[in-house]
Amino acid sequence: MNALRLASRLSARASAQFLPRGAAAANPAAAAAVGMRAAALPAPQRPTATNDSRRCYSASPPAPKAPALHELGSVDHGFTDDRVDRIAEPERRAFTYLLLSGVRFAYASTARVLVVKFVSSMSASADVLALASAEFDVSAVGPGKTITVKWRGKPVFIRHRTPAEIAECATVPMSALRDEESDDDRVLKPEWLVVLGICTHLGCVPISGAGDFNGWFCPCHGSHYDVSGRIRKGPAPLNLEVPPYKFTDEAKILIG
Ligand code: FES
Repeated sequence: MNALRLASRLSARASAQFLPRGAAAANPAAAAAVGMRAAALPAPQRPTATNDSRRCYSASPPAPKAPALHELGSVDHGFTDDRVDRIAEPERRAFTYLLLSGVRFAYASTARVLVVKFVSSMSASADVLALASAEFDVSAVGPGKTITVKWRGKPVFIRHRTPAEIAECATVPMSALRDEESDDDRVLKPEWLVVLGICTHLGCVPISGAGDFNGWFCPCHGSHYDVSGRIRKGPAPLNLEVPPYKFTDEAKILIG
């Protein structure tokens, strides 16, 4: 019996010599069987990232030490390489100034053209300006006659007055006028009267050669104008308006 126990212990001790330490820790019974105490065994060393890295770097040669920034100076080498030395290169400075001036001049010219085009787009077009003024030949209008022309969409009376009519208008006192205005102030030439054919009451077109004063009569509400176009009777408050005009020739009138 003792021989069997001795043979078993020798067999367990022999197998424990070939067990790895982790296996002995995982199987304390086996370790105890061979006289080893599991608690006394050192902790199994598992591979860690640090250990692996150490093994990895230990195999390669050490990396060269990077130089410090103060040893290299500025890391922005492009700035120093491309920098223009304006003192050492005056011709390059002149070229730079010329280039900048040219670009700015081009910008200013473009801006000016745009502003001029924008402002001119808001002004009246050529056809509208052509309608702003109109010239009329009155050589065929005899004394005592009145013609009606159109200017800016409005009727205009042009009357060739006789010497008797001119004298009559000149003798009217200011006290007899509702809208006090002398005949001389309403004409450029005494024989020609140019007035808008629009009643100053509510805008009707008066009738020429009618009314109590042989000038114009507005049938809408009964306003009477004399041969100077001044209101003499009726509800109209003002004289007939005199448009801007001038004589371009002896018998040509430019209105507007
Ligand atoms: S519109 Fe001419 S009198 Fe009234």
